[in-house]
Amino acid sequence: MSTYTDSAAAPDERVKHGLAAGDVVPPSPDWTIDQGWENYTAEEHGVWKTLYERQTKLLPGRACDAYVEGMRDLPMGPDEIPDFRKLSETLMRKTGWQIVAVPGLVPDDVFFEHLANRRFPAGNFIRKPHELDYLEEPDVFHDVFGHVPMLMNKVFADYIQAYGAGGLRAHKLGTLKNLARVYWYTVEFGLVQQADGLRIYGAGIASSYTESIFSLDDASPNRIRFDLERVMRTNYRIDDFQEVYFVLNNLDELLELDRIDFAPLYARIQSQPELQPGDILPVDEVLHRGTGVYHGAKQA
Ligand SMILES: [Fe+2]
Repeated sequence: MSTYTDSAAAPDERVKHGLAAGDVVPPSPDWTIDQGWENYTAEEHGVWKTLYERQTKLLPGRACDAYVEGMRDLPMGPDEIPDFRKLSETLMRKTGWQIVAVPGLVPDDVFFEHLANRRFPAGNFIRKPHELDYLEEPDVFHDVFGHVPMLMNKVFADYIQAYGAGGLRAHKLGTLKNLARVYWYTVEFGLVQQADGLRIYGAGIASSYTESIFSLDDASPNRIRFDLERVMRTNYRIDDFQEVYFVLNNLDELLELDRIDFAPLYARIQSQPELQPGDILPVDEVLHRGTGVYHGAKQA
């Protein structure tokens, strides 16, 4: 989880980073609550089942190997919303992570503090049956189905922890906007090039039926080779499908973040113009130059 949202016209779930401090009274000092697993109703488990089955049919051949392997080894199935205690037992053994329940968006510093300590905050609520493709805030399906399988992967697990630590630093430096874009274009909307094709690893895509198709199959969006500095300069859309997806050669590239001295990087980035989601630079390694039809039609 953590911190995402949608905006009103979104056809599908959107993800955002951060709740303004003071918006809500914290339920506890670190914002965690009991998942209250025993309190889920049959209807809520039913919504999980509908979403789980729809997505599970769609993802073979679309989700990356790490996601598929992570999902295979987790106590997660169609019949009920997973119990965070059981997920955490499995995760702890594999990568030292645990899932903690939160009631919704949490402030950035709280979110980063959890990640830096290998705790993934997940919303404990689930969307309504008539809102399967609309999310005001990240719910348990987005957070658990989308994010948790990747936390079973050692490289990715280390990356998210490093991101949390980097987030705490960026929060102090006032450079959160740049760092949040990295999260957005990797953890939420990242694609990776496997030998057998382009694959999804971002949770915002993996938990979204329509974007799982759009991100891979649609001719409209640009697909550009991931470059950290480039991504940190690039705005993103929270109200619709992405206009650009950044593609890793492999997940190991994410470890680059752990080795970077961010202070000079932030200074360099802030001296350069911001980029809009649909921009293409001469230096970009463009894997697919999008037609722009989808977003163009919306602007018309
Ligand atoms: Fe997310």
